[in-house]
Amino acid sequence: MKALLLENIHPLAVESLERRGFEVELRTASMSEDELVAALPGVALLGIRSNTTLTARALDSGSDLLAIGCFCIGTNQVDLIAAADRGIVVFNAPYSNTRSVVELVIGEIIALARRLTEKTAKMHQGVWDKSANGSHEIRGRTLGIVGYGNIGTQLSNVAEALGLRVIFFDTADRLAHGNAQRMNSLDDLLAEADVVSLHIDGRPGNAGFFGTEEFAKMKPRALFINAARGMVVDDVALRENILSGHIAGAALDVFPVEPKAQGDEFESVLRGLDNVILTPHVGGSTQEAQEEIGWFVAGKLAGFALEGRTELSVNVPAVQAPQLAGSRIGYLHINVPGVLAEVNARLAEQGVNVSAQYLATRGEQGYVVTDIAEPLSSAAESALSASPHTIWLRSWSA
Ligand SMILES: NC(=O)c1ccc[n+]([C@@H]2O[C@H](COP(=O)([O-])OP(=O)(O)OC[C@H]3O[C@@H](n4cnc5c(N)ncnc54)[C@H](O)[C@@H]3O)[C@@H](O)[C@H]2O)c1
Repeated sequence: MKALLLENIHPLAVESLERRGFEVELRTASMSEDELVAALPGVALLGIRSNTTLTARALDSGSDLLAIGCFCIGTNQVDLIAAADRGIVVFNAPYSNTRSVVELVIGEIIALARRLTEKTAKMHQGVWDKSANGSHEIRGRTLGIVGYGNIGTQLSNVAEALGLRVIFFDTADRLAHGNAQRMNSLDDLLAEADVVSLHIDGRPGNAGFFGTEEFAKMKPRALFINAARGMVVDDVALRENILSGHIAGAALDVFPVEPKAQGDEFESVLRGLDNVILTPHVGGSTQEAQEEIGWFVAGKLAGFALEGRTELSVNVPAVQAPQLAGSRIGYLHINVPGVLAEVNARLAEQGVNVSAQYLATRGEQGYVVTDIAEPLSSAAESALSASPHTIWLRSWSA
């Protein structure tokens, strides 16, 4: 099977796919829609990053295409519905940059507590201003984590290792890591935290989540960090609180409006403020995260192409099946009542013995993975494929 990887995807992905027997073509640039239309025939796996747009027209040319790997976090560049309609499975790497974000936030907590931005700016101007005023250790301070998901929990662990006391608030029930303490409300957290760090997701209800009222409830001279989503914070309210001195410092990696292209001007009311660290949405951008993404997405592509596993797919039902040991059927179908019974009846008619079965549905599609005792016969394959509910049927043997 051929894998086409665009946009300079990490060499670890190439190595991982070649080791599993794929023929890999690696290109450094992205492709236009017309270039994709010409290149996709014969390609089973396509790897892209954020600069390749996959439209329905491009996907139509991918008659051999089984799966697309987005070697990044976002999947907006792919027409996910059109891909699902064509039975093409899409994966991404939602968690591979977690550690990178956590390390940035830890660095920022220390930098803000020591007012390093001011000190380094003065030194570059030739001013030697040696003073401990306003500089603090982070040991023993209270970090309030809002949003205790993948990033929030990992931040919790690393922060505790550095001697911070961790409290957190999440709208979902989350297990406290280490000695972290769950707060019953955002207000309770704001009343106690010396540093507030936001790690909530970008669901629409979170727009404008943190503004004038929330800043007012923070402890005087507390620090504020947002590496989650730009739209969750009212930057004008933050500016006022920095200027008034109520908030002693802030670090922002994400903004309500971010420049589209490299080199475009960054416009924000937060520019030019003392002890405010501004970074261009680089929380997850490290070489290590790229390597992790390469390894992770290549594994998902291979796991699907060679064993039918769709776990963590972003557009078709996600089935977490065990490693392939004997023979397996993967059956993507239209999600109507009774398909599972129909699959099993058709298999039984053909004398196929089912050893394990895993089903998931998502919207209009269902996917069932059936492990069977013997390799699927062509008669059984024809019997199952003949169902009016079939989108595709594939089989594998270890
Ligand atoms: N700066 C970067 O480069 C970068 C990189 C990766 C992720 N992110 C962002 O970081 C954020 C966290 O990512 P994650 O992988 O940990 O997400 P996640 O989905 O694992 O965790 C989000 C948590 O926030 C909680 N939550 C949602 N709304 C809430 C609210 N209003 N109040 C309290 N809790 C709430 C959820 O229940 C969940 O536990 C996301 O917004 C993501 O887009 C930024």
